[in-house]
Amino acid sequence: MTKSIVVLGTQWGDEGKGKIVDLLSRDVDAVVRFQGGHNAGHTLVIDDQKTVLHLIPSGILNEGAQCLIGNGVVVSLEALKTETEGLEAKGVDVRSRLGISPACPVIMPYHELLDHAREKARGVNAIGTTGRGIGPAYEDKVSRRGIRISDLYNPGLLSEKLEEAMDYHNFVLDQYFGMQRMSFDRVLDDALQLGACFSELVKDVSGELHRLRTEGKRILYEGAQGSLLDIDHGTYPFVTSSNTTIGAVCTGAGVGPSAIDYVLGITKAYTTRVGSGPFPTELFDEVGAGLAERGAEFGATTGRPRRCGWLDAVALRRAAHTNGVTGFCVTKLDVLDGVETIKVGIAYRLNGELLDIPPQNAEAWDDLEVEYESFPGWQESTRGITRFEDLPANAKTYLAAMEALCGAPVHMVSTGPDRKENIVIRHPME
Ligand code: GDP
Ligand code: IMO
Ligand code: MG
Repeated sequence: MTKSIVVLGTQWGDEGKGKIVDLLSRDVDAVVRFQGGHNAGHTLVIDDQKTVLHLIPSGILNEGAQCLIGNGVVVSLEALKTETEGLEAKGVDVRSRLGISPACPVIMPYHELLDHAREKARGVNAIGTTGRGIGPAYEDKVSRRGIRISDLYNPGLLSEKLEEAMDYHNFVLDQYFGMQRMSFDRVLDDALQLGACFSELVKDVSGELHRLRTEGKRILYEGAQGSLLDIDHGTYPFVTSSNTTIGAVCTGAGVGPSAIDYVLGITKAYTTRVGSGPFPTELFDEVGAGLAERGAEFGATTGRPRRCGWLDAVALRRAAHTNGVTGFCVTKLDVLDGVETIKVGIAYRLNGELLDIPPQNAEAWDDLEVEYESFPGWQESTRGITRFEDLPANAKTYLAAMEALCGAPVHMVSTGPDRKENIVIRHPME
């Protein structure tokens, strides 16, 4: 019996991770976030009721699952408070089931200001970040200048650390960006107050996971963003500031690799991307516009329109091997309904050479040409289909081609946004 699984995105984010985590969380004892922050927007739809989660794990609507935020997550306490209150207003008991690692770096108000200031300064070369302060918060962690959750409960130490951090950041805001300095007293007071709201939820997440595992409990690790946004393996510099790939589970939750029994890679049946950066299979015609419209492709965090394109099997191949994907879950198959001919990028051509996995050199992405294979589409609706045998023949052929082209078998298919709209070919927990 499989005990612990990882669900992560294998494209540029928004693959439908939240929906699948919610679905699978009824079979687990804990759901754990291990990287990213409230740049994530994970959408859950249950009987037409939509919930968008940013920081709280997507198991929160299943009462049997404990929800943990591991040390690898950068935490905005303000965002956490808003999200907690929003869920509580809907009757969800968040506080009795949520745990936050004391080692999480805190996203401070100056991180958000710096994120915006940097993006503005980059002008046409802006990354298109979510503006949530994610990058600057991770930089502070790595530079050993960061504030951690545990610091919020030691006012003397917090004041000392904050003074050092703010001396530096106020200098940058004022002298480099020509912006207003932030008030030390105000930032300190707010941090102490917000910290107090969550004091009872602080928990040794790594220790708790070890305990659960020893008791034979099942754990689901929930990724945010996607493999192509990984700081090392993605389309650098157009990436997020964390590792979004498999290794982050171990470092960001505090578990060993043998604690992972199965890796579910989520991919849309096509591709989307929000923000700037390379996207070799991007469509600029009415087919792309149709995917955007039928797929309601607007960012769950910022509301920005998502760029749309064909499935990129080349990029997925790399995601499959960097993450050791056991099986894929293909989401939004229904969005391809009615498309006459479906294309899949099967190789890249770079300086006359044919590549079957993407280059690691970021600049090379701009000069790629894509080789496509075409598949006949289907005119029937696949929306809400729950049995593989009920799919149109051409949809089955398309999924079989995905398996052959992308480097791992398809174990699940999602045929609509609702929790019920799925085909389970092989259940990751079995
Ligand atoms: P995440 O960040 O990976 O959790 O994905 P998002 O929630 O940002 O974006 C996925 C969007 O697609 C959400 O609006 C979901 O409700 C929706 N969605 C998920 N699976 C399906 C599906 O199979 N079909 C359709 N039509 N929509 C889906
Ligand atoms: P989920 O978990 C899609 C993108 C931003 C930008 C880049 C850097 O919902 O899949 P950041 O604010 O992280 O510094 O922005 O990463 N990005 C996402 N794109 N889904 C996400 O999360 C994303 N989180 C960040 O658009 O291009
Ligand atoms: Mg999202």
